[in-house]
Amino acid sequence: MRRNIDMENFSYTETQDKFRNEILNGLKENPKHLLSKYFYDKKGDLLFQQIMKMPEYYLTDCELEIFTEKTADLANAINAFDEPFDLIELGAGDATKSSFLLDFLVKQNADFTYMPIDISGNIIEVLEDRLALKIPDLHIVGLNGEYFEMLDKVNEISSKRKVILFLGSNIGNMEVEEAYHFCSELRQKLNPGDILLIGFDLKKNPHTILQAYNDKTGITAAFNLNLLTRINEGLNADFDVNTFQHYQTYDPLTGACRSYLISLKDQMVTIENEKIQFKENEAVYMEISQKYSLDEINVMAAKNGFEPLREISDSKKWFIDAIWEVV
Ligand SMILES: C[S@@+](CC[C@H](N)C(=O)[O-])C[C@H]1O[C@@H](n2cnc3c(N)ncnc32)[C@H](O)[C@@H]1O
Repeated sequence: MRRNIDMENFSYTETQDKFRNEILNGLKENPKHLLSKYFYDKKGDLLFQQIMKMPEYYLTDCELEIFTEKTADLANAINAFDEPFDLIELGAGDATKSSFLLDFLVKQNADFTYMPIDISGNIIEVLEDRLALKIPDLHIVGLNGEYFEMLDKVNEISSKRKVILFLGSNIGNMEVEEAYHFCSELRQKLNPGDILLIGFDLKKNPHTILQAYNDKTGITAAFNLNLLTRINEGLNADFDVNTFQHYQTYDPLTGACRSYLISLKDQMVTIENEKIQFKENEAVYMEISQKYSLDEINVMAAKNGFEPLREISDSKKWFIDAIWEVV
């Protein structure tokens, strides 16, 4: 039987001012940096979907394998059939992987509401349209905004047990210290018995990792450069995108894979009424994709108020979805 889909979007109130301030502050610092959460406008969402389909970008295939071939394991690991719960996905994107779990849970009559949270309003709309077609009986409440602000909204509207999905190695887009802080803050918003299902990309052959972020077709480069276009359009700036070049590094000792945009010449860029000077070969730090060992992951859980229950990996053992319980 088809149930009506209840969709409610909360609007993202932090606007232009925050975008402007965070972009300008980052570009005034030394070294310059930009925030990767701003990669995801309409064009950025599409480019990220292309990245996920690239043969070099093994992360999606690995996690997709887990979600398609170990769906029942995942459902059992999150105790999906015990009592009603809210399934909250942080940075849901287009839910490529989680949709398999959602479909399974609906078919098995689990009693849950799916609440995708994403800073990209565009992707929340795309997601709701897609899931309405793919899983018509899914009860979905889309939340457009930043992770913790939207989690606070969830806490206001529901007191059910929470299962949090944080997939795709989104945690890897934080410095290690920041990831610890994130887990600790997340823990404060949850209750004992709540579950976190969190994806980690494991340390592996450094060439495999570097290639995943350095594709020859230039899609990753276009994804990074698109943020300059977004700044041009949103903040009336005059970046010449052709004078910046994508540069990727991986350090096998620390597990940090970092992307930069390199200015190819001395140049001045105007953003609204501010002028920012770039030197030839100056790097703008864009994003980290941190890789972890299993031991490092378990320590992160324990130090932040979670008990690691188990981890589910792909057949190559390149990626894991770890299941942590709030203690
Ligand atoms: C790398 S994509 C991963 C998407 C999906 N989780 C997956 O595994 O395919 C990151 C997603 O998180 C969202 N995002 C990034 N930072 C965010 C933040 N601070 N608050 C809410 N969403 C965020 C982006 O808009 C994007 O859709």
